Amino acid sequence: MTNFETIIGPAYLVAAVLFILGLKRLSSPATARSGNRLAGIAMTIALAVTLLNPDILGAITGARLIPIGTIVIGTLIGGGIGVYFARTVKMTAMPQMVALFNGMGGATAALVSIAEFTRAIGETGDAGGAGQVVSIVLGTIIGAISFSGSIVAFLKLQELITDRPLRFGGQSWFNAALLLGSLAVGGIVLVGGSVPALWAVLGIALLLGVTGVLPIGGADMPVVISILNSCTGVAAALTGFVVHNQILVVAGALVGASGTLLTLLMSKAMNRPISNVLFSGFGALQTGGNGKGAGVVRIVKEASAEDVGVALAFARNVVIVPGYGLAVAQAQHTVRELADELEKHGVSVKYAIHPVAGRMPGHMNVLLAEANVPYDQLAEMEQINGEFDNTDVALVIGANDVVNPAARSDTSSPIYGMPILDVDHSRNVVVLKRSMNPGFAGIDNELFYRDNTRMLFGDAKASLTKLVAAVKTV
Ligand code: TAP
Repeated sequence: MTNFETIIGPAYLVAAVLFILGLKRLSSPATARSGNRLAGIAMTIALAVTLLNPDILGAITGARLIPIGTIVIGTLIGGGIGVYFARTVKMTAMPQMVALFNGMGGATAALVSIAEFTRAIGETGDAGGAGQVVSIVLGTIIGAISFSGSIVAFLKLQELITDRPLRFGGQSWFNAALLLGSLAVGGIVLVGGSVPALWAVLGIALLLGVTGVLPIGGADMPVVISILNSCTGVAAALTGFVVHNQILVVAGALVGASGTLLTLLMSKAMNRPISNVLFSGFGALQTGGNGKGAGVVRIVKEASAEDVGVALAFARNVVIVPGYGLAVAQAQHTVRELADELEKHGVSVKYAIHPVAGRMPGHMNVLLAEANVPYDQLAEMEQINGEFDNTDVALVIGANDVVNPAARSDTSSPIYGMPILDVDHSRNVVVLKRSMNPGFAGIDNELFYRDNTRMLFGDAKASLTKLVAAVKTV
């Protein structure tokens, strides 16, 4: 063992500990930035130390044939693309970027599995024990599903294909047959050591990723991406077993576990089981949304920015409820400006954060952190719901489903049972949105017709700018 090789194990251990600490710190907005940094350092250590592996370092010492230049150029190209996208992506496009990156991880796991199998069969005619081949087959299947599923998720979120659920008769049976088929052909790989059979496994699994994600509505894609993310983690861990790389096993297991937990948290926050997300075709129906219900024209009360400005400035306390529309309008800085102005008028301001407001986990926290909103002003749903009875004004900005009282009372509503922010309990509710169009769930919102609700129509950023000006004049 060379001097270089002796540091691989300890360095991987340090990287694994940093990954875990980084993940832990991601659990709070206050520590998330440093958590991200720790995980970045861990990844740098893991990548650098992996180059010391004799199979790769051999390239430097001349013992093996992987040219170091290839590794450097590949790293620069991949890293460059990563940096470019991370710096330029819009906050609302973050889910599709995560989908793309996640898909690359799945593809890598599948291809490394196939490459390792092909190499072993080519060199010795034997790919190793049953455990090794099972890891290769499962790594290929799960990685391929994750890749093609993530690409479909990306296309839907980017609106390059329709985001409506695309379904055909017997789809679930077809998908079940594909899954069983990939496992059966995987059995042939195990028994016969056949490389073409492993490519066939890849093909079937790629198709399954496509037909599995097509029937799921666009707005459920964050949950799907989280599921596929945990799949990529599992595929990477399996690949780690195949190439005997401990840090890949650890990092893959962490991604698999955190992706699974995130999926469960999102499902709980929407009160929808995973099976409902995967198989119900949620979002296929578009009901209501034009201000009319059951054929009866319903009236909403429209307010001017000046009226709302006065109501806000004279309130004792205001709870701001951000939603997806705030992200679309990129109004996070303007909302902070409004809050600052209100505080100058002696108004107490808090932000109520629903766990699935927006389109990805932590969407609102990230958005408000960007505008340096103090963390102690952010309140989670459980904390704030009891306070709405004593709230003078609830200012709902581009949020819809997460404040829809139908979730509490209408058993026929698709969002029935989803925990919501009880803004309707406030003395006054002001809703900022552009029209009476529905939100993600595609349903009308009872809140907009309540006596204590007023609508301020317009783009959230433009409306907030008018509100800042209005409050300043009071
Ligand atoms: P939504 O219910 O989707 O409502 C967003 C509202 O923002 C729309 O009604 C839209 O109305 C308005 N809007 C859009 N652009 C705007 C702009 N520029 N200015 C002002 N308003 C604008 O959002 P929500 O309340 O945040 O709820 C999130 C939904 O996504 C939930 O149903 C949740 O289950 C689902 N979901 C979330 C996640 C995660 S992890 N966050 C994952 C999966 C699903 P107008 O078009 O009239 O302006």
